[in-house]
Amino acid sequence: MSDARVNEPRPDPATGPNEAELAEAGLRLDVDGAIATITLNRPERRNAMTFATWRGLARIGESLPDGVRVVVLRGAGPSFSAGIDLGMFSGGAGPEDAGAGGGFPDGADEAASDRFIAGLQAGYTWLRRPEIVSIAAVHGHAIGGGFQLALACDIRVIADDTKFCMKEPALGLVPDLTGTKPLVEIVGVNRALELCLTARTVLADEAARLGLAELVVPRDALDKTVAEIVTALLAVNPGAAVATKRLLLEAPHNTLDEQCAAERREQIGRMRDLFGAESA
Ligand code: CAA
Repeated sequence: MSDARVNEPRPDPATGPNEAELAEAGLRLDVDGAIATITLNRPERRNAMTFATWRGLARIGESLPDGVRVVVLRGAGPSFSAGIDLGMFSGGAGPEDAGAGGGFPDGADEAASDRFIAGLQAGYTWLRRPEIVSIAAVHGHAIGGGFQLALACDIRVIADDTKFCMKEPALGLVPDLTGTKPLVEIVGVNRALELCLTARTVLADEAARLGLAELVVPRDALDKTVAEIVTALLAVNPGAAVATKRLLLEAPHNTLDEQCAAERREQIGRMRDLFGAESA
């Protein structure tokens, strides 16, 4: 990739992707009140992802309407996602990704390459925002970037045909789409190392045992189960939901004293909202 491409100006974050951009990204977005559903939508390629997919996800995150409280990520067709579009390694994944090396920076300009990868990671990081709860509804294969997308979500509901695989090291790459941190937090360093460096497939029952799934359901019950969880999430007071997610995200990094203080701070905010003069 030339430096000119790496340094290209980004689209205005305030405006979300239009239909043509979503189609190029292989994504569908349906917003229904407080629920946004993002469908990875290249079933004929098993929802393989390109740079356009990751940038499209970032744009969706940047432009998400304020009222959205739950974001569901799902895949069309037989799989959640087969990960990076392998055509990108040969420049055959689409116009944006054409050229020698498939549009990857060669790393010569370290700062530009860093910005380039950060722009792709932005497609995943927003799913942790306290203002939303993100749910990955996974079925079939979730490989590489697809597995990492599931890991970026707050809750993973998986079908019993799910197959997770962290394939990047087998391709000479590292998992760089924000997946290493949640993976280690969930399964520990040693298991994460074993999974990544063997690039082996984890089936649904093992995924549940390892904590990689909050719930395993029969394939034909996936949509219904996710809908039930969404309903339950939306029944909770919105302010309490945001404050509680913020609190839980802080917990692993805090000492007990710090976390107790954080609980007091958040609860005082809740008391103000619920019982304060302005809410009366
Ligand atoms: N990229 C491009 N095309 C893909 C693809 C991918 N990752 N995965 C599947 N496809 C295409 C196939 O080429 C095939 O196309 P044709 O119909 O034109 O032949 C079509 O999708 C259907 O695929 P299969 O017939 O193979 O479907 P399957 O259900 O039998 O198998 C699969 C599904 C196990 C996902 C298999 O397709 C596969 O192993 N795909 C490659 C997975 C892979 O190695 N991904 C890279 C992960 S690493 C990563 O993601 C790195 C990163 O983020 C930085």
